[in-house]
Amino acid sequence: MPTLQFKGKSVIETYHHTVPHHRLEFDAKLSLLPRGEKPGLDGNLIIEGDNLLALKALLPTHAGKVKCIYIDPPYNTGNEGWVYNDNLTQPQFKEWIGRTVGKEGEDATRHDKWCCMMYPRLVLLKELLREDGAIFISIDDNEIHHLRSLMDEVFGLENFLATVCWQKKYSASNDHQGIAPMHDFLLVYQRSPQFKRSLLPRTHEQDKAYKNPDNDPRGPWKPMDYTCNKTKDERPNLYYPIINKHTGKEVCPDEKRVWHCSEDVTDENLELDLLWWGKDGTNAMPSLKNHLSTVQAGLVPNTWWPHEDVGHTDEAKKELQRILGVPAASMTPKPVDLLRRVVQIASGPNDIVLDSFAGSGTTAHAVLSINERDKGSRRWILVQLPFETLAQVKAKENICQEITTERVRRVIQGYSYKGQRGNKQRAPGLGGSFTYARVGDPLFSEYRDLGKKLPPFVDLAKYIFYTETSHDCDLKQVDPESGFIGEIGGKSYYLFYSPNDREDREASLKTLDRILKKDKNRSWVIYTERIWMHQEDLRQFERENGRSVRLMLVPFNLK
Ligand SMILES: C[S@@+](CC[C@H](N)C(=O)[O-])C[C@H]1O[C@@H](n2cnc3c(N)ncnc32)[C@H](O)[C@@H]1O
Repeated sequence: MPTLQFKGKSVIETYHHTVPHHRLEFDAKLSLLPRGEKPGLDGNLIIEGDNLLALKALLPTHAGKVKCIYIDPPYNTGNEGWVYNDNLTQPQFKEWIGRTVGKEGEDATRHDKWCCMMYPRLVLLKELLREDGAIFISIDDNEIHHLRSLMDEVFGLENFLATVCWQKKYSASNDHQGIAPMHDFLLVYQRSPQFKRSLLPRTHEQDKAYKNPDNDPRGPWKPMDYTCNKTKDERPNLYYPIINKHTGKEVCPDEKRVWHCSEDVTDENLELDLLWWGKDGTNAMPSLKNHLSTVQAGLVPNTWWPHEDVGHTDEAKKELQRILGVPAASMTPKPVDLLRRVVQIASGPNDIVLDSFAGSGTTAHAVLSINERDKGSRRWILVQLPFETLAQVKAKENICQEITTERVRRVIQGYSYKGQRGNKQRAPGLGGSFTYARVGDPLFSEYRDLGKKLPPFVDLAKYIFYTETSHDCDLKQVDPESGFIGEIGGKSYYLFYSPNDREDREASLKTLDRILKKDKNRSWVIYTERIWMHQEDLRQFERENGRSVRLMLVPFNLK
C-alpha cells in the first residue's frame, strides 16, 4: 500500500506512546449532576483541554469501549481571516509542534503540520474505539486526500467504509471566482469488520409514497417498473407475452426492453396478484406492487446526505444562536440532524459516543435528543480546547465553558428564545447530566530520572494491572524476568522495567518474538521503558502472527 510521507512523520509515528499521562481534574461547580451525585468518569463528560492529552488520559478507563466517534477537526483552509483559527496557529499547537517535531516541524508546510497534528490523535482514537465501533470525520477538499491516506495507515485500508458527501449549502455563492463548493465530506472507517451499521428510520414523507388504491389486504404499496433496460436479443428468456387479466390482451415490452424477471416468477406474481394494470385495468404495461410491509424496517444509509435531510451550515449557526441567545461568531457548528444521522448509524441505546473536537457541542446535543426519542441511555464525551486564539486567552474567553458547556446545559435544562414574530418561546429540556473535567498535571514525567528512587517492579506492576483492568493482579503470576504481570479475558499484560539497572528495558521485535513463543493470547498490552521498532514493523508483526499489540510507555515518576 502506498503510504503518505510528510515532514515530522518519523517522530510523530510513535509520539502517542511518549505523551505523558495527565490527570483529569473534576470541577463540581461546572458539572451538572443530580443532587448528591459526585463527578466521575462513568457518565457524560465534558473535558476542557488539548484532546491529545485528554484522549491519553481516557485510555485507562475507556480503551476499547467507545462505539461511535465523530470528529470535526480544523479543515486547514490556510485562510488567515477564517473565524476560527483552523490554520493551526493556535498557541497550544505551535508550542506542541515546536517541542515534538523540533526544527523540522517549524519548517514544515501547513499540510505537514496538519498531518503531524492528526496522526497521534487518530492512533489514540483508534485505541478508544470498540472492536465493533466506527469513526466519522468531517473534512473538506483541503485535507481529504491526506486524511484518507492517514486513515488507511492507522485504521487499515480494509476498514474504509465510505466517503459521505454532505450538501452543506442550499445555494452556491454566485461571487465565487472558481467552481463554488456545495459540500463537505465525512470519511467513515470501522474499527474492524465486526462493525454493523444500523438502518435509518423511515420518514413520513417516504411512507407517503405507499398507497392502497385497490384495497389490497396486505396494506399500502408502491408501483415499480416491471421492465428492465436490456434488449430482446441480449435477454431472450426475459422477453415473453403477459396476459392482462382485465382486458385479456397479450402484452410485450417494446424490443429495446425486457421484463424484469423470468416467466416462472411472473406466473407466481400473477397468482399472488402482484401485477397492477391501473385503476381501470387498461395500462399499457403492468407495474409490480411493492408492499410497505415487505420493505426493511428502515433505510440503508448511503453516501449522499442532502441538506433537506441533515441540515446545512446556515441553519446550524442560527440554531446555535437561538440556543445561546447570542451569536457565537468563533464557531462553525454542524447541524444537529447531521450528527443525529451519525449517531443513528453507528450507536445503540447503551453505547458511548465521543467527539474530541467538540466545538459548540453539537454531538452531545444530538445524542441527548436521540436518547429522548428512543428512551436510550447513550453516553457522550466531549473534548474541547479552552482557547483557540491569543485574543481569547487575553480576554479570558473560555469557549469550552462559555459555548460548549453552556449550549449543552441549556439543551439539557431547556431554554427560552425569541420566536419568528419576536414572541418569547420555550424549548423544553431534553434531560441529562454531565461531569466537567480539565486536563490537569502530568501524572508522570516523560523521561526516566535515574537520580530518583524508582518504584519496585511489583509495585508498578500492581498499579498498571489495576489501572488497565480494574482487577488486582495475582502476584504469583508476576514474573519480572519475562515481564508478564497477568492476563484477563484473553488479554496478556507485560511490564518491561528494571528499576535498579541503569539500562532501559525496551520493546523490540526480538522481545515480541520471545513472547510469541510462550503466549497463546491474541491481544497483548506491553508497558515498556523504550520502544525500539518502527510502527510499520509492529503492524507487520501483528498481521503475520494474528496478534494485536498495544505499546505504552512506563510512567516513570510514580510516587
Ligand atoms: C470545526 S470546530 C468543531 C465544530 C463542532 N463540530 C460543532 O458542531 O460545533 C473544531 C473545534 O475543535 C477545537 N480544537 C482544535 N484543536 C483542538 C485540540 N487539540 N483539542 C481540543 N479541541 C480542539 C477547536 O477549538 C474548534 O472549536
